[in-house]
Parts: sequence; structure tokens; C-alpha cells
Amino acid sequence: MTDWEALRTACDQCHRCPLGQTRTNLVFGVGNPSADILFVGEGPGEQEDLKGEPFVGKAGILLDKMLSCIGMSRTENVYIANIVKCRPPRNRDPLPEERQACLPYLRAQTKLIRPKIIVCLGKVAATTLIDPSFSIMRSHGVWQERKGFWMIATFHPAALLRNENLKRDAYSDLLKIRAKYDELHSSDQKKGPPESDGQVKEETEK
Ligand code: URA
Repeated sequence: MTDWEALRTACDQCHRCPLGQTRTNLVFGVGNPSADILFVGEGPGEQEDLKGEPFVGKAGILLDKMLSCIGMSRTENVYIANIVKCRPPRNRDPLPEERQACLPYLRAQTKLIRPKIIVCLGKVAATTLIDPSFSIMRSHGVWQERKGFWMIATFHPAALLRNENLKRDAYSDLLKIRAKYDELHSSDQKKGPPESDGQVKEETEK
């Protein structure tokens, strides 16, 4: 059994928090398992719970358009996951204890993917992964280097559907993400392949 299969099985059997009792499907994640960019949303909504895939409702259609704006797609260059893998009832924000119960799974996915960039989509992801006092309005589009990852937050696509005025700022964040991706790729090419896989892995495990 591969690490991915073992992780998937552990998630499918998970009842670490009450969301495990009310889910239709666990929403594990989707995308390229060796992507350089990991997008992290909040948690599954109704459509995601029914389908078992992240971002397949209206917000997901917009996320796909946002990715395509910067020449990316959910099947090629990115991996998409959520802070919690089971739908919170009536789409409420996941509670702190639900986020904490689910985080080890996202961390395990991150170790397997080894992305260079982590993009937090919205407040729940940014306050969980970057800083509990993170303000999307003030600090979206600002890079932070943490534990070997380049981290950034932008608006959740559902927020962009509610407020069209945010789209301009979201577009500029997306351009920064594309530019960082290109910059990291060109510096990789200059450096050549990593000397030891183990070294890189240790860095991401700290
Ligand atoms: N909103 C999220 O944050 N994640 C999903 O998967 C769908 C909608």
C-alpha cells in the first residue's frame, strides 16, 4: 500500500470529530500529487459533500476560471484541498476543534506533495495556516516564507461571488502567484536537480 493509499483509507475511516457522522462523502483533495502549488479552501459545501471532490459548486467553477487565468488547471499544476475534509452542517465555518482534528491529514498530504507554494483561499485557511489574527482585507497578496514553503492568502472564490469589487485585487494576487511559480522554476533550473531527496523532505518536515 502506498503512503497516499494509507492516508486516503485513514481519512475515509475518520471519526475524529462529529463532522464524520454527518458527511455523505469525505472530500480528500484533487489534483496533481506532485504539484508545486497547493490551494487550501475552507471545507466542503453541499455539492462537494455529494460528489466527494473539492470546489465543484459555483465557487469551484470560479476557482477553475481563476486558475485558467494564470495558465493552470486543477488536473495539471495544482493540488486542491480544504482545512476540513467533511462538510460542516449548513456550511458554517469549521469550529477550531474540527480544524485541529483534521489538520494532521492536510499536513500529511503536504508532506507527500511537497509543494513550493501554499495558497490560502479565504479567512478560514489563512487564520488556520498562517496566523490566527490574519486579515484577508489587509494582508492578502503578501508572501511569507514559512518552514520552507512560500505562503500567500487571497480571497475565497465564494467571497468574490458575493462581492465583485474584490475581483481586481484577487487578479493581482493571482498574478503574484504565477510570478512566484515562474521565479521558483527558473531558479530550480539554474540550480539543477536537488542533491538528495531526503534533505528536501527533512526541510518540509520541520
Ligand atoms: N468552499 C471551500 O472552501 N471548499 C470547497 O471545497 C468548496 C467550497
